[in-house]
Amino acid sequence: MEGQKKLPPTILFIFGGSGDLTNRKLVPALYNLFLDNYLPDKFVIIGAGRTPFDSDEDYRKKLFEGVQSFSGRKDELDGKWQVFSSNIFYHLTDLRDDSSYQNIFEDIKNKTKDWGEPPVTIFYLAVAPQLAQVLAQKLYEQKLCEDPVRTRLVFEKPFGHDLQSAHELNQLLRSMFDEEQIFRIDHYLGKETVQNILAFRFANALFEPIWNNNYIDHIQITAAETVGVENRGGYYEQAGALRDMVQNHILQLICMIAMEPPVSFDANEIRNKKVDVLHAIRKLDPEEVHAHAVRGQYAAGWMNGKQVQAYRQEKDVNPQSPVETFVAAKFFIDNWRWRNVPFYIRTGKFLHEKTTLITIEFKDAPCYSFPKEAAETWRPNRLTISIQPEMDIRIRFQAKQPGQEMVLNPVNMIFSYAEAYDGREPEAYETLLEDVISGNQTLFMRADQVEAAWAIIEPIMQTWLKRPPVDFPNYTPGSWGPEDSEELIARDGHHWAVVPAKTKE
Ligand code: BG6
Repeated sequence: MEGQKKLPPTILFIFGGSGDLTNRKLVPALYNLFLDNYLPDKFVIIGAGRTPFDSDEDYRKKLFEGVQSFSGRKDELDGKWQVFSSNIFYHLTDLRDDSSYQNIFEDIKNKTKDWGEPPVTIFYLAVAPQLAQVLAQKLYEQKLCEDPVRTRLVFEKPFGHDLQSAHELNQLLRSMFDEEQIFRIDHYLGKETVQNILAFRFANALFEPIWNNNYIDHIQITAAETVGVENRGGYYEQAGALRDMVQNHILQLICMIAMEPPVSFDANEIRNKKVDVLHAIRKLDPEEVHAHAVRGQYAAGWMNGKQVQAYRQEKDVNPQSPVETFVAAKFFIDNWRWRNVPFYIRTGKFLHEKTTLITIEFKDAPCYSFPKEAAETWRPNRLTISIQPEMDIRIRFQAKQPGQEMVLNPVNMIFSYAEAYDGREPEAYETLLEDVISGNQTLFMRADQVEAAWAIIEPIMQTWLKRPPVDFPNYTPGSWGPEDSEELIARDGHHWAVVPAKTKE
């Protein structure tokens, strides 16, 4: 794959340069971009962190281990890593100390001289949220972000803890930087299959006419994980599944499915259309929350033949923790297109299968003329978009089973990425980093999107806070979550769709 764009000289500062994100995601992604010729010809990475390394070479060695484990490109390492890593440096940095920023000035000055033009400067804040805020203020005070076109800041989630704190954070950032400089990452938006939703919907005339409440009965989104909270108990205690997955990733998936057609692929046009969806999602009254949202927490049990402990026994977790590791909810979008179409979502840790799946279930055929016995296995049409780990789109429809009798069966028509395309799909972080470098904000969260998303989950958060759960832990590892989740959808006469078998359901 050949890179197409000629990008300006760029310096990427990674704060948290010795951290996990840098090692597992950022540098492997940058290395892949390099191999595919997507990086600017003049490109330097400067890691800044508190862990001392003996030398730049020592730092590069550590990053190389990350690349070997996470870049997925082991066979292409020969020689190329040497070239790539010769442009990686490390500064031992105390972020609270003003003198640390002098080094940054020097780096930019030196590179401007070497390259004969001022570079694009990216500050990637791969640090804890409180620190990111301090750091952003320092960068502002030290006048390192004065050029709104050539300086960019990248923030990882969480963006605030609730609506109020997100609003305050946005106000603070907007008082220092232009919105065009701020790149808020939601890594789901960088996933190839998520971006393909726009192509599927808006590059085909076939689906748009039926993409509304006249034809669609309901929509489901499942984002299930087979891992627990791992070593992130401290963070997770402040978050829970609602903040960790729903406020961002799942609401963004709803936006992709529900947005109106954009008139262009301009970043703000796409983001305007998405924010319209968020504004139209019905806000729950506190009394309605119990009927629309279910929470769960995993007990001790077994996962893939291994014994696992309950959430409340995890490291850094309160033994009486009320924090949810599972959420199921029903949302409505109050606009013409989606009025009365329920969007069911569920997400959780230690569930039966790792899968992110969007299911669009169509209404029944208006009139059914086949003999009753022909249709014993009759099922409504369904479109399934598998985001991960399977990457495919399938349409379920009825077919006549071969034979002398009229017997109908549901069958699937499948588009599979693996079968349709050769080669490797880029990782989400590759796409997102390439967009930061080229200054394209389409896949990043704008301030108003973040706040509109918090406003949707705020009533659920508040209600749950006031009414601590009485039945936690309430699901077994390896299950599909608490029984209440089944009931939530069964009350409306539906059931959760599961990962489809390869060819037939
Ligand atoms: C992150 C959450 O944003 O997304 C994690 O903080 C979660 O808790 C992860 O595990 C899931 O991402 P993916 O890409 O594995 O679905």
